[in-house]
Amino acid sequence: MDKYIEPHIEWIEETQRKLENKLRYVRERSAEKIPYTTINGVHDDWRYKKIGRWTNGFWAGLMWLMYMSSKDERYREIAEYNEMLLDEALKNADDLNHDTGFMWLLSAGANYRLFGGRDSKNRILAAASALAARYNINAEYIRAWNGEDRLGYSIIDCMMNLPLLYLASDITHDPRFKLIAEKHAMSAMKNHLRPDGSVYHVINYDIQTGEVTIPDKTQGYNSKTSSWSRGQAWAVYGFVLSYIHTGNTAFLDASKRAAHYFIANLTEDSVPLCDFRAPDMPVYHDTSAGTCAACGLLELYRIVPEHEKKLYFNSAMRILKATERDYADWDCENDTLIKNGCEAYHDGLQDLPLIYGDYYFAEALYKLRGGDVLLW
Ligand code: GLY
Repeated sequence: MDKYIEPHIEWIEETQRKLENKLRYVRERSAEKIPYTTINGVHDDWRYKKIGRWTNGFWAGLMWLMYMSSKDERYREIAEYNEMLLDEALKNADDLNHDTGFMWLLSAGANYRLFGGRDSKNRILAAASALAARYNINAEYIRAWNGEDRLGYSIIDCMMNLPLLYLASDITHDPRFKLIAEKHAMSAMKNHLRPDGSVYHVINYDIQTGEVTIPDKTQGYNSKTSSWSRGQAWAVYGFVLSYIHTGNTAFLDASKRAAHYFIANLTEDSVPLCDFRAPDMPVYHDTSAGTCAACGLLELYRIVPEHEKKLYFNSAMRILKATERDYADWDCENDTLIKNGCEAYHDGLQDLPLIYGDYYFAEALYKLRGGDVLLW
C-alpha cells in the first residue's frame, strides 16, 4: 500500500463506510430530485426551479462515485435519471452558460466514460459545442454568464469546465475543442492568477482588444483585493486538470502556485474561510472550497515526483479530516452531509450544506481508495 495512504487507511475506510451507510437512505429520499442544499435537513429540489443551475449535475456525480465504489445498480439508475432531467436545460439557450462542464461532465460524461452510449455522447457534444461557442477569439477567453453587460466577463470557475472540451476532442478526434480550452487556460493563467498565487474571481476583457479590468462582481468579500477561497480551489484543481489533459507543464506550475497560496492560508482549524482576505469578523467557512481543493491537491500528489508529494498529500488529508470531524453529519434521518458551505460571502448565502461540497468530499475518498476514473 502507498506509504502516504497507509497511516490514514482506517479513517478512510471508516469514513467511506459512514458515507455509504448514510447515502443508502438519502438516495431513496432524493432519488428523483436535483438537490442543491438542505432545508431543515431535507434536500431541496431544482427540477422545476431552475434546470440550468450550475450545481444540477453534482447529484448525478455523487451517485456515479458511489456506483463506482459499490457497483450497486441503484446508484446508476438515479444518476441516469438525473442526466435525463438535464435535457430540458440543453434545449434552452437561456439555461446554458460557461458552467456546462459542471453539469454534463458529472452526468453524461461519467455515464459515457463508464458505458459509452449514444445519448450520453450526444449530450456531451451538445454541451461542449455550447461552451466552445462562448469563446472570444480576439481576447482568447470563454465568456462567463449571460447578458449584454457581461460580454467581456471571465471567471476562474470556468477552469473546471474545460475538461468538457478536452473530452469532446477525445470523442470527436477534432482538436478544436481542446485548442479553445488551452487558449482559455493560458489567458486565465496570465490574467486571473496573481503573482502571489491568489486569483481574481472575475475579470472583464475588452472584447476587441483584450485589455483587462476588474469589475465589482465577486462571490468573495470584494473583487479587487480579496481572495475567494472556492475560486482558489477552482484554480488548484482546474489548472492541474488542464495539465493532465494537455501535458503543458505551465498549467502544472500554475496549479502548484495556487495550491501553495491555498495551503498557506488555511487557518488553524484547517477548513478554509469563505474569503482568505475578509475582515476577521464575521467568520464564514466554506467547506466546499476545502473539499474541492483537497481533490486538486490529491491530483498534484499523484502527479509530482516523490520529493514533492508530502506537502500536497498531507494538506489534502488535513482539510478532509478536519471537515469530517467538525462539519460532517452522519445521521441517516436527514439529508445533510457536509455543513457550512458558503455559496457567496454576501447575500445571506453562508453556512449552507452544499451538494458540491458533498460531491468533492466523496470524490476525495474515491481517490484515496484508489479509484482511477477521473470524471473531469
Ligand atoms: N460557478 C461556480 C461557483 O459558484 O463556485
